[in-house]
Amino acid sequence: MKIAIFYFSGTGNTRRIAERFAETMRQRDNEVELLSIDGLTLEKKLPDSVWQTAVNCDLLGIGYPVYAFNAPPIVLSFAKKLPHLLKNKRAFLFNCSGEPLKLNNISSIKLCGILKRRRLNVTNEYHYCMPYNIMFRHSDEMALKMWQTARQLIPLDAEEILQGQKHLLERVGCGAAIAWAMRCEQWGGQLNGRMYSVSKDCVKCGKCVNDCPTHNIRITKNGKFRFGGKCLMCMRCAHLCPQNAIRIGMFNSWKVNGPYTFKQPKTEEERQRYNKMLTKAYERYFAEAEQRINATTVEPAAKRSE
Ligand SMILES: Cc1cc2nc3c(=O)[nH]c(=O)nc-3n(C[C@H](O)[C@H](O)[C@H](O)COP(=O)(O)O)c2cc1C
Repeated sequence: MKIAIFYFSGTGNTRRIAERFAETMRQRDNEVELLSIDGLTLEKKLPDSVWQTAVNCDLLGIGYPVYAFNAPPIVLSFAKKLPHLLKNKRAFLFNCSGEPLKLNNISSIKLCGILKRRRLNVTNEYHYCMPYNIMFRHSDEMALKMWQTARQLIPLDAEEILQGQKHLLERVGCGAAIAWAMRCEQWGGQLNGRMYSVSKDCVKCGKCVNDCPTHNIRITKNGKFRFGGKCLMCMRCAHLCPQNAIRIGMFNSWKVNGPYTFKQPKTEEERQRYNKMLTKAYERYFAEAEQRINATTVEPAAKRSE
């Protein structure tokens, strides 16, 4: 089967998940093309090669991080640019978020509507808990546990998709109205994006300029930083800045700088932070995942490669 997986990832968590899906599906003898959405929405039309990939694949996947109980605008804009001629092709969605809240399941409502109009039939949808890139930093142990859980769940979910077993996430009542109201975050983000600034620690390495998925950051001739009005609040610039030199406007106290290592923490203090963070909701998420992993006796290729 020809599978095309498109994903957007602000700070790398969704990318990890997308890569795991691709790896697992390839191990089951499928032809998988993995494409980042970064840069694909800057032009009016999708590049011909991407258009062809979407038209020619048998199964299409889209992955994204949840932003204010919605899919990021770049993902919606990508979906709107997909061809209308997808002839009831099957599609699967996956997303990740910092909280294991059921409310996050409403994030795909608008996206599903757009895909339906493109004749895409969303039959499978999966959510994974991954560490926060805004608001607060998850402990290293918690981040590792989240990733290990997702890593083990993905082969099972991929198997379901490939076997043609439908799996959709349960949504809360009034989900469409809540998601619609929460989309004000997108305008707020654009407004706040203009308030970004750099501190004197900046060494003008240009990483943020090159990394920004909407090309929203530039350095003027006299060395000043300019942040435009296209910010997605994806946090890539601030999270990955090696100097921790970017201030994220009104939300600066929520900044989380430095990538997660997804390794076992070294200090006792870090280990203790895990226990503090393990609230009932996370406990339930991990327990349900563990139950599913233990109950599945499949011998998928990806499990063999663990
Ligand atoms: C602007 C913004 C809004 C977010 N909104 C939510 C949310 O509504 N619910 C949630 O659980 N996590 C939320 N998060 C957390 C991200 O979904 C989470 O950190 C995710 O793992 C980031 O994935 P990425 O590394 O692929 O960008 C939000 C993050 C950002 C930057």
